[in-house]
Amino acid sequence: MSDETERATWKRTDYAGALRPADEGRDVVLCGWVQKTRDMGHLVFVDIRDREGLAQVVFQSDKPELMEEAKKLRNESVVGVRGRVRRRSAVNPEMPTGDVEVAALGLRVFAVSKLPPFQITDPPQASEELRFKYRYLDLRRPKMQRQIRLRHDAALAVRNYMSRNGFLEIETPILANPTPEGARDYLVPSRVYKGRFYALPQSPQQFKQTLMISGFDRYFQIVRCFRDEDLRADRQPEFTQIDIEMSFIDREEFFGLNEGLMEAIFALSGQKISRPFPRLSYAEAMEKYGTDKPDLRVPLEMKDLTAVGRDIASDLIRGALGAGAELKGLLIPGAANYSRSQLDKLNDKAKSLGAKGLFWIKKQDGWKSSLKLAEPDFLKLWASLGGDDGDLALFVADKKAAALKVLGEIRRTWPMDEAAKKKMLKFAWVTDFPLFEWSEEERRHVSMHHPFTSPVDEDVPLLETEPAAVRAKAYDLILNGVEVGGGSIRIHDMDLQRRIFKALGLSDKETEEKFGYFLEALSFGAPPHGGIAFGFDRLVMILAGEESIREVIPFPKTTSALDLMTNSPSEVDERQLTELGLKLK
Ligand code: AMO
Repeated sequence: MSDETERATWKRTDYAGALRPADEGRDVVLCGWVQKTRDMGHLVFVDIRDREGLAQVVFQSDKPELMEEAKKLRNESVVGVRGRVRRRSAVNPEMPTGDVEVAALGLRVFAVSKLPPFQITDPPQASEELRFKYRYLDLRRPKMQRQIRLRHDAALAVRNYMSRNGFLEIETPILANPTPEGARDYLVPSRVYKGRFYALPQSPQQFKQTLMISGFDRYFQIVRCFRDEDLRADRQPEFTQIDIEMSFIDREEFFGLNEGLMEAIFALSGQKISRPFPRLSYAEAMEKYGTDKPDLRVPLEMKDLTAVGRDIASDLIRGALGAGAELKGLLIPGAANYSRSQLDKLNDKAKSLGAKGLFWIKKQDGWKSSLKLAEPDFLKLWASLGGDDGDLALFVADKKAAALKVLGEIRRTWPMDEAAKKKMLKFAWVTDFPLFEWSEEERRHVSMHHPFTSPVDEDVPLLETEPAAVRAKAYDLILNGVEVGGGSIRIHDMDLQRRIFKALGLSDKETEEKFGYFLEALSFGAPPHGGIAFGFDRLVMILAGEESIREVIPFPKTTSALDLMTNSPSEVDERQLTELGLKLK
């Protein structure tokens, strides 16, 4: 057979996973991987897998040579199968192709596979370590194939939506200067200029602002960012942002535009989103939920009871409030049946989170409480929380931060119907963050977001006198307790930008070295502008119903920043180091 005829004979006509009853009677060529073979003696079933799914192929004794060949097939080998689609006698309702099978007329083995280190099945049978070492095999799993495709579909939805709204996708450099986003930089030594380094961007922040100064007006980019920071389930050293910037921005209109983007993305899973998203100030989020990333799927809210607490005849409460503590309460409807030992565990949790403990009150056949209180005092606390028969209330009297942290954490992890929770999409905009936070490590104020964030106008006079009180025109988008995006209205005035750098403790020399070009750019007519960046991996993770972004990144790194498949990072030749002017210590 000539090469040409050979190619034509084995040209795929259909994806195995796409065969349906309508294909009955058709002659098809499938190309894919052997999922498994079942040898029934007079009959051999072979499941063929490709990116669309699985189909069953039958080899029968009327073609004895072919059947013998099929018996020898090894799992994960790559084959071509020619045959005719027919109805199955035993329908398999578990498989989308379960109504049909292919009666084999020809078989071609393109490649024989070694015995794989784990079976290609959902859910996976292997540890994450083994899955990552053999990621190319792990990615063969139908679930991973679906998720990687979902990622493609989401990126496409973003590009279509942004483009429809007049945004241009513009690329920015990967070899750049350090970007102040708060993590450590990945540095790349320059061979040409020894002793000088590029930094991989933590975000394209300055570039996108510069594009506004250049007049591009509406920019977006699906862009890789790099941050050397402690890794978690929702953090990778390199990750992808949907980065957006817009000139002549009106915050409300911008929120609406971003809500529309979320709608376009989550339309892929058919989940309805209710708009507009609720808005919470940072202060409100901390008071009600004890965190700036509230999971609004949990229908519980904390209340400040410090004023009520002063009227309660309890040494414990009075003593604590007298020493500057605050009293916070959390009502949990219907939880009065919580047992003593469950409540003791909550008390242990409070201690492990840094508070002195918690006390509780419940109403079920009369009052019960871990604290000795008179009836009028029960009533006061109960009424201020709006408690009812059958409810449980938890209280912490402690330093404000500790009290909020404890009740916030108990609230966040309160047991709920997991299946119902999985279906919910609860967005919230958190606004008016503090502009600065105090860094114990650096003994100075640092930017809570980044130094290009505009302060709230009326707080500008406090920049030098009371920096901790200055609020920022910053906003985060939270989805189900995950920070999926963050952004701000920017400073577009050079003098104000200089004052911020000063407030951050940068000397004139440092400012000039690091941001000289940017300050100069601001002096050549910068439009009012603002923007946001979304964590694309996090959005796809939630879209796919996963708990870790590693499940939606084709080649992720482990939590210790290793790529187990390629073995990176790796050592380099002495020669390369010399060329770069580097010497290892
Ligand atoms: P920020 O630092 O908040 O803002 O980042 C934006 C969003 O990116 C996601 N994200 C990450 N995802 C995975 N792994 C990481 N290590 C990681 N770090 C951040 C989060 C986060 O909300 N330049 C600003 C944006 C702006 O002001 O326009 C910025 O990068 O979902």
